[in-house]
Amino acid sequence: MSRGFVSGILATIVVGLLGGYIVLRSGFVPANADATPPWLETWAARTSLDATLDREAPKGSNPVALTDDNLIAGVELYGQHCAICHGTAKGAASASPVAKGLYPQAPQLATDGVEDDREGVSFWKIEHGIRWTGMPSWKGALTDQQIWTLALFLKHMDKLPPAAEQAWQKVKN
Ligand code: HEC
Repeated sequence: MSRGFVSGILATIVVGLLGGYIVLRSGFVPANADATPPWLETWAARTSLDATLDREAPKGSNPVALTDDNLIAGVELYGQHCAICHGTAKGAASASPVAKGLYPQAPQLATDGVEDDREGVSFWKIEHGIRWTGMPSWKGALTDQQIWTLALFLKHMDKLPPAAEQAWQKVKN
C-alpha cells in the first residue's frame, strides 16, 4: 500500500469524525423524547438487542417452580416495580403518563405480552435493562431469584390460576 493511499484513508476518517462532531454540536440531531423513533433507529436498536440476547440470555429453564405462591410473588414484585411503566391487567387502557412519555414508549404488558418469549430472555432484559430505552437494569435492586420470579409471572400472565389472577386484577399503577 502506498503512503499516499494510507494518508488518504486517515484524512477521510478525520474529516468524517469532524463532520459528525459538527453535526452533533449544531443542535440538528433530535434530543427530544416526544417523538416516534424513526425506523433506522428502531432497526439498529432491535438488531443489537436480538443479537445480544442470542449470545447472552440464559438458555436453561426457570429455576423458580410454577406454583401459585411463586406466581403471586411475581405479581407483587411487578406491582411494586414495573406497573408504573408496564401497566396493570387493563393493559393499554392503564398506561401511565410515565409510560406514554418514554422514548420509545413502554409496552403495556397485558396488551403487548411477552408470554411467547423464553423466560431466559425476560430474565436478561430485567437483569440488564435495555440500552437506549427507559427500561432500567434491576441487577442492583432485585436478587436473581426475584428476577426469575418476575420472568415466571410474565410467561404465564395470560393464563394465571385463579389465586394469582385475583392478585393480578388488584394491581394498580
Ligand atoms: C421507567 C420505566 C420502566 C420500568 C419501571 C420498567 N420497565 Fe420494562 N421496559 C421499559 C421500556 C421503555 C421498554 C421497551 C424497550 C424497547 O423498546 O425495547 C421495556 C421493556 C421491557 C421488556 C421487554 C418487552 C418486549 O416487548 O420485549 C420486559 C420483559 C420488561 N420491560 C420487564 C420489566 C419488568 C419485569 C419491570 C419491573 C421489574 C420493568 N420492566 C420495569 C420501561 C420500564
